[in-house]
Amino acid sequence: MFQYHCLNPIADVGLNKFTANYKKTEEIGEADGVLVRSASMHDMELPERLLAVARAGAGVNNIPLDQCAEKGIVVFNTPGANANGVKELVIAGMLLACRDIVGGINWVEANKADENIAKAAEKEKKNFAGTEVQDKRLGIIGLGAIGVKVANVAKHMGMEVYGFDPYVSVDAAWNLSRDVKHVLNVEEIYENCDIITIHVPLLDSTRGMVDKAAIDKMKKGVILLNFSRDLLIKEEDVLEGIREGKIRKYVTDFPNPVTAGQEGCIVIPHLGASTEESEDNCAKMAVKELMNYLENGNIINSVNYPNCDMGICSQAGRIAIFHRNIANMITKFTACFGDEGINITDMTNKSKGEVAYTMIDLESPATEDMIGKLQSIPGVFRVRVVK
Ligand SMILES: NC(=O)c1ccc[n+]([C@@H]2O[C@H](COP(=O)([O-])OP(=O)(O)OC[C@H]3O[C@@H](n4cnc5c(N)ncnc54)[C@H](O)[C@@H]3O)[C@@H](O)[C@H]2O)c1
Repeated sequence: MFQYHCLNPIADVGLNKFTANYKKTEEIGEADGVLVRSASMHDMELPERLLAVARAGAGVNNIPLDQCAEKGIVVFNTPGANANGVKELVIAGMLLACRDIVGGINWVEANKADENIAKAAEKEKKNFAGTEVQDKRLGIIGLGAIGVKVANVAKHMGMEVYGFDPYVSVDAAWNLSRDVKHVLNVEEIYENCDIITIHVPLLDSTRGMVDKAAIDKMKKGVILLNFSRDLLIKEEDVLEGIREGKIRKYVTDFPNPVTAGQEGCIVIPHLGASTEESEDNCAKMAVKELMNYLENGNIINSVNYPNCDMGICSQAGRIAIFHRNIANMITKFTACFGDEGINITDMTNKSKGEVAYTMIDLESPATEDMIGKLQSIPGVFRVRVVK
C-alpha cells in the first residue's frame, strides 16, 4: 500500500486514477508521494519516507530540486499536458490578428444604445474587415508539444506551414504532419512567412531571439504571435516595427508595461493553459508518473533525475540506486551482488548533470545486508527496494 499527500487541490479525474493500492493521507510525513501545484516547498522539511514529488503543471520553481535530488526524491512535472489548451488560444490569437474582431465587438458595446445599430453596423463593418488565413504562410519556431499541434491544425486550415527546430525530438517529428516544410535556418521563416509564431523555451540561447535584426528580415505586414514567454522577443523592437508599418499585429499572452494598451498589440492575460481540460490533463499525467515510479521505479518526465524505464519487473527483485554521477559506481554496485552470489538479470544506468540513477533487476530478492552495503558506498544518496 502506498500513501500520497496533496499540497494543493488536485483534480478528481487525476486522483481517481489511483488504484485500491493507494491511500490519501493528510500527513505529509506519512506520504510516499506528494502531489503539488503552486504551493512552495522551499521551507518545508522533506520527510525521510518521501520518495517522489509530482508537480501538476510545468514550472517547478516552488520545489527545491537539488535538495530533493540529494535525498533521492524524484521530482516530476507534466510537460505538454496543457499543449492543446495553448494551441487553441494560438489559433484564436491568429484569427484575432487577421480581422479586427476585438475592435468590432468594442464598437457594438459602444453603440449598444443605438436603436439603428443594425443599419449602422453595415456602414461601419468595413473598418473591421481583414484577411483569411487560408493559403497564408505560417512560420513556427519550435516544434515541441505546442508547436507541433499548431502546425497540424494550421495545415487543416489550408495554410502553408514552415517549421524550424534544430533540436526537434523523435516524438515530435512522428506527430508532425508530413506537409510541414522543415526549414534549416530561422531566416527562411523570417523571410517567407506572413504569420510567425514562437514556441521555444526561455533559455539563455533563446532570450531576445526575435530582435530588430530578425524583424528587419521579415515581410512587411507580418503578424507575430507569442504564447511562449515575453522575454523571448525584444518587445521594444516590435513596437518600433508596428510604428513603422512593418508589423501588422503582435499578439502576446504575457501582459507587461511595454505592450499593454499599445497600438497594434493584442495582449491576452496569460490564458494559454487556463482551461478545465489542461488542469485535468496535468492531474492525470502527474498521477500516472507517480504511480509508475512508486510501483516500478520507472522515471518519466523528471526534472531532477534522468528518464529511466525498465517496464514492469518480472524478476524476483528490483533495486533503485540514487547516486552521484562519478566514475566506478557500477563496479561497486555489481560487486555487492556478486559477493552474495545473486545474479543480475537486467540493469540500466542513466545520468543527468551531477546525479545518476541505476536500476537493477535480480534473480533473487536483495538481502538487508546487501542494501546496507550499497547504502554505505560513498556517493550513494539512497537505495530503494522497488520489489
Ligand atoms: N501561454 C501559456 O500559458 C503557456 C503554457 C504552456 C507553455 N508555454 C510556453 O510555451 C513554450 C513551448 O512549450 P512546449 O510545451 O511546446 O515546449 P517543448 O519543450 O515541448 O518544445 C519546445 C521546442 O523548442 C525547441 N527549441 C529550443 N530552442 C530552439 C531554438 N533556438 N529554435 C527553435 N526551436 C528551439 C526544442 O527543440 C523543442 O522542440 C515554452 O516557452 C513554455 O513556457 C506557455
